[in-house]
Amino acid sequence: MIEEKIEELKRKIDDMTRGIKSSKSLAELKMAFFGKQGEISELMKGMRDVPKEKRPEVGKIINALRDWANERFDTLAETVKKIELEELYKAQKIDVTLPGRRREKGAFHPNTLVIRELVDIFSGMGFEVYEGPEIENDYYNFTALNTPKDHPARDMQDTFYITDDLLLRTQTSAGQIRVMENKKPPIKILSPGKVYRSDDDATHSPMFGQMEGLVVDKGITLCDLKGMLDEFARKIFGSSVKTRLRPSYFPFTEPSVEVDVSCFECGGKGCRLCKGTGWIEVLGAGMVNRRVLEGCGIDPDEYTGFAFGMGIERIAMLKYGINNMKLLFEGDVRFLKQFKD
Ligand code: PHE
Repeated sequence: MIEEKIEELKRKIDDMTRGIKSSKSLAELKMAFFGKQGEISELMKGMRDVPKEKRPEVGKIINALRDWANERFDTLAETVKKIELEELYKAQKIDVTLPGRRREKGAFHPNTLVIRELVDIFSGMGFEVYEGPEIENDYYNFTALNTPKDHPARDMQDTFYITDDLLLRTQTSAGQIRVMENKKPPIKILSPGKVYRSDDDATHSPMFGQMEGLVVDKGITLCDLKGMLDEFARKIFGSSVKTRLRPSYFPFTEPSVEVDVSCFECGGKGCRLCKGTGWIEVLGAGMVNRRVLEGCGIDPDEYTGFAFGMGIERIAMLKYGINNMKLLFEGDVRFLKQFKD
């Protein structure tokens, strides 16, 4: 009787442990036999009911089963552990012949490329870079630039006011005043930066980039401005590009000009880019107004100067043939990727 039961148990253990692949399920299975209510434990408990004279004999058989089962589980545990380790090694194996993961190289934003190129061109002509604050007060952004309150030219720029006096600068020209207040001529500075205007449509953004230039010294004339602009236009748009000046108005320059470059796409014959005119408007400029120099403590009878200001996005669009300004603000990687060098 008892022998039959033992054989059956052995078979059961054999069946249930076959194909076991994890140490965890093996340990669980062992508990199912050796645990409190496990079948082997139950057998041992059953010894109480075995008549005294038979106990030594039955005890021997049960002990033998217990030892057999223990050994069985131990050997299995070792095998399973080996398999597990092998699998772990396999999973962690490094194939040194695999190609490495490429890290994608970023690209500079076209605005950054333009700013860098401009700074490079103008520093070659002896300009120093000065960066003014983006939050300005009314004085630097307007009044000192000969645009007092109620001046009609204030309407040219829709301003974001923070308080009655503080505002987001609408033009990098504000930096001119800060420079002239702190430095005596000769002055030759370039001032790139962000400016803000309450304006938003297909060709305007409430935030955009400008690059200001200012030269003040003895004997500076409009001719110097024209010569410098010619050099700048050739460097940024190509060696055959010419410039022309058209009369314009800015409160802080007198005379003021609008600067066009000959169309670098069609060479001046007229095309879509230049809207058939052969010319493309690129910046505003002029001779620094006497009143502005005076206000900064520079004697306008001794010194003269010129200033110019251009839109970074506009230059970027012209230079790279970008037809929609919004592309410069959306941060679409498919667009930006194209500017990789
Ligand atoms: N500040 C002017 C603008 O934003 C541009 C400009 C700069 C014109 C310097 C003349 C001289 O429109």
